Amino acid sequence: MAPVPMSKVFFANSGSEANDTAVKLVWYYHNAIGKPEKKKIISRRNAYHGVTVAAASLSGLITNHRDFDLPIDRILHVDCPHHYRYAELGETEEAFATRLADALEQRILAEGPDTVGAFIAEPVMGAGGVLVVPPATYFEKVQAVLRKYEVLLIADEVICGFCRTGEMFGSTTFGLRPDILTAAKALSSGYVPISAVMVSEKVHAAVAANSGKIGTFGHGFTYSGHPVTAAVALETLRIYEDEAVLAHVQSLAPKFQAGLRRYAGHPHAGEVRGVGLIGAIELAADPAKRTPFDPAMKAGARLAEFALAEGLIVRAMGDAVAFCPPLIITATQVDEMFERFDRALVRFEASLA
Ligand SMILES: Cc1ncc(COP(=O)(O)O)c(C=O)c1O
Repeated sequence: MAPVPMSKVFFANSGSEANDTAVKLVWYYHNAIGKPEKKKIISRRNAYHGVTVAAASLSGLITNHRDFDLPIDRILHVDCPHHYRYAELGETEEAFATRLADALEQRILAEGPDTVGAFIAEPVMGAGGVLVVPPATYFEKVQAVLRKYEVLLIADEVICGFCRTGEMFGSTTFGLRPDILTAAKALSSGYVPISAVMVSEKVHAAVAANSGKIGTFGHGFTYSGHPVTAAVALETLRIYEDEAVLAHVQSLAPKFQAGLRRYAGHPHAGEVRGVGLIGAIELAADPAKRTPFDPAMKAGARLAEFALAEGLIVRAMGDAVAFCPPLIITATQVDEMFERFDRALVRFEASLA
């Protein structure tokens, strides 16, 4: 199922552990190939990769760092690819992507290409306070820079993996060719804790050779590949295949995305974005000027509460409200979801008066 040829899979119990493992593998790999200086890992502001020491460091959110003495050394953050919020006036998605890729290259050059080992990215940024669908051409341009300086790519597919973006993996949707891929959540449909770290043969071969030389690969959790979680994950993957869940997502995604985009003209919708069966509406006090609401109003949380009162769970991420329906949602249920959201919006508007 992997989006690019992969060689081996290491199992862990959470997305955070998977990303911590990916960091250790990047470091181990570069020691193994005789490049012990090539250890810095570049992540992005607003990224979310988990809460363990390395994963929280990879995360680009101040709340995961402040007073935890994080990020740890050798983890850097570059620009968040959120066009709506960070593009200059009139800048196209393509021009914005070029600017970010150029900035990444400058950062790698400033740090010294021999010191930069990997770049980590969620294909769609999910938990980092906003939901960000990458601007057109972003990953194409970023990957050209990574290839130029032999920087490994880690795709964090903890949210995107297994049908969410309308392909089995977000890497396929956005053309990523990762050397290491982490997955969790939908690997077991969330029923039991299991995560996975897939590695390419290039990485595996170097790690295996080095482990053979020093006698052991000193990394593994008590519950790595636990038979119970493995059985649930295998059954989940069987259901994805046998019940054609991906085809179902692909057939419903256009309806879901069209339904979402209907809100684009709403007087307080700043941006509507999404892909596959994930999307968000970012509220704005004045959409034309992209003026946000006063944070004290907690507009996103307020709208999410009204939605809950209507029997609909949306997630407030700042002033963006995110939709992430079950992969098995039906067409009728998509309609019902938006009907409930319409009623929540009416309540929200009334609360502003
Ligand atoms: C993209 C991404 N990476 C990593 C994690 C961390 O996973 P966990 O909470 O299982 O440690 C999350 C959790 O939401 C996530 O969304």
